[in-house]
Amino acid sequence: VKIVRTIGELDHPDVVTGFVPTMGALHEGHLSLIRAARAECERVVVSLFVNPTQFGPTEDFTRYPRDEAWDGELASDAGADVLFSPSVEEIYRGRSTWVEVEGVSEDWEGARRPGHFRGVATVVAKLFNIVAPTRAYFGLKDYQQCRVIARMVEDLNIPVSLSFLETIREPDGLALSSRNRYLCPQERALAPLLYEQLLSASAKIRVGIDVDEAIGEAASQLEASGFNVDYFALVDGFTLQKLHRSEQDARLIAAAKLGQTRLIDNISLGT
Ligand code: PAF
Repeated sequence: VKIVRTIGELDHPDVVTGFVPTMGALHEGHLSLIRAARAECERVVVSLFVNPTQFGPTEDFTRYPRDEAWDGELASDAGADVLFSPSVEEIYRGRSTWVEVEGVSEDWEGARRPGHFRGVATVVAKLFNIVAPTRAYFGLKDYQQCRVIARMVEDLNIPVSLSFLETIREPDGLALSSRNRYLCPQERALAPLLYEQLLSASAKIRVGIDVDEAIGEAASQLEASGFNVDYFALVDGFTLQKLHRSEQDARLIAAAKLGQTRLIDNISLGT
């Protein structure tokens, strides 16, 4: 894999380019995106950039795991041609212009992490301009992020086609996340319950049990097991508006803290 650190060094050959933006700490979820890009594109660019503007002042920016050499090996094995690994200074020479995606970014993660989606949308817009990919790949685990980026690409007429790929899970159901490594063994043992309760609420809703009742039970189960539930909700899969009744494209989304670690997950109601 060719490691590129500056915008000027990144070339733009006239070939179908697949792009996988990441913050490093690569796991099987990222690698599935890189492999999909490899299968569909002539050239695969992976970015490795822990984006400071999407972290809140009390979040884990400084302790976010960083290991470029290891990530480079994993990305290369999965089929990346170029690893774009810029410094913060290279990306943010100035910080006056922001991309704010109204509506879809406001509730849920947006409400709990003020400024988060502004940081994500801004850096992804910048990376799209820097890399100029044909296609870009994101994981559905960050469901709201996928909707925010889709809205931005449409609203700003960014010429890239987006692929959103299924969440990769541990054998016990826990969605892969770079933050799972923060869990202590006891928390790790409890963590799959988040997905179990999403499945359980989904099954109840599908057999006609009242949405708010099914969600209330799932949230209580999680709380009783030691989770601190931030939200557990049924939402419209495009607008992210809260639903009280199931409809097509509905999505169950949840965020909960186990100790200091915040986990998020979601499933389509068809799952
Ligand atoms: O999902 C992530 O890892 C980040 O939010 C992204 C899309 C790379 C932007 O920094």
